[in-house]
Amino acid sequence: SKKLLLDVDCGVDDAQAIMLALAAPNVEVLGVTCVHGNTTVENVCKNTLRVLQACNKLEIPVFKGAAKPILGNSLSAGHFHGEDGLGDAPDPNAPGLDRLQEEGAVSAMIRIINQNPGQVSLVATAPLTNLALAVRLDPSLPSKLRALYIMGGNTESRGNTTVCAEFNFAADPEAAYIVLNDYHCPLYLACWEFTCYNKLSWEFCDAWLAQDTDKARFMARIFRHSIEASQSERLQKEFVAGTGFVSCDSYAMAAAVDDSFITESDHYPVSVELTGTHTRGMMIMDTVGFLKKERKAFIMKKVDMEKFKQMMMAALK
Ligand code: BDR
Ligand code: CA
Repeated sequence: SKKLLLDVDCGVDDAQAIMLALAAPNVEVLGVTCVHGNTTVENVCKNTLRVLQACNKLEIPVFKGAAKPILGNSLSAGHFHGEDGLGDAPDPNAPGLDRLQEEGAVSAMIRIINQNPGQVSLVATAPLTNLALAVRLDPSLPSKLRALYIMGGNTESRGNTTVCAEFNFAADPEAAYIVLNDYHCPLYLACWEFTCYNKLSWEFCDAWLAQDTDKARFMARIFRHSIEASQSERLQKEFVAGTGFVSCDSYAMAAAVDDSFITESDHYPVSVELTGTHTRGMMIMDTVGFLKKERKAFIMKKVDMEKFKQMMMAALK
């Protein structure tokens, strides 16, 4: 089976991505590491435990990671995910934070990857602070990964957080820079515009949530806030083109779960802009060779949407 390690800032689409992975056949989730992002790292830990509980998978270890980016202060995305990161639909029976592992996320990441050399696919759907800290402590880490899948960055400088930057990169540009430059392993990117071009229709979402299962009812509760937010005029502009829901993190997860999910990708060196009035946190793609960088990332362009819908449906079964 495939071994996955997930790094999340458990908002609503992270929850969807985690559930997709947990439902996938032949996939073993070795652990979930948490980081600041959509909400505080404490909320991220609580949300992750709630998602695992909804899937009867509380035995999967959850680790608390960085509370802030390498420089500056955390962002948050309460306008979209709800202030608590999970749609502000609290559950009185939610597991307590005493369910967290004592070991920190960065040490756990280093330990788990070293214990399974060449076997772990790391899936990061959050600001990349934990990954950046991990490679600074253990520079050999990337060489021991099977592959790294990231939801983040952008290809057409259409941001969702600043004019030019996507949230996960904007929330910690230095970390994104370190990861794109120092993770010398196969690297797959689900960038913002790509996810927007592959929205799920509202009709699909209705059918998805209408499944008669506890998981679907859980999703319907935590999802309501983002559905309403998505329909605002402002967010429809951010969502680049067309209407529907963008479950961004689920694309990175689907690619990690199923090798045949990506049907076409670009293959270019990538980096991140660290300075600039409007461009800090923007991903750059070197289509010509100016950077003289040999290592290239696979930038998702086309995916099997039928497969995606099947995986999403299965996530709530
Ligand atoms: C990313 O930012 C977060 O709000 C989402 O969970 C996703 O990881 C999209 O830009
Ligand atoms: Ca996320």
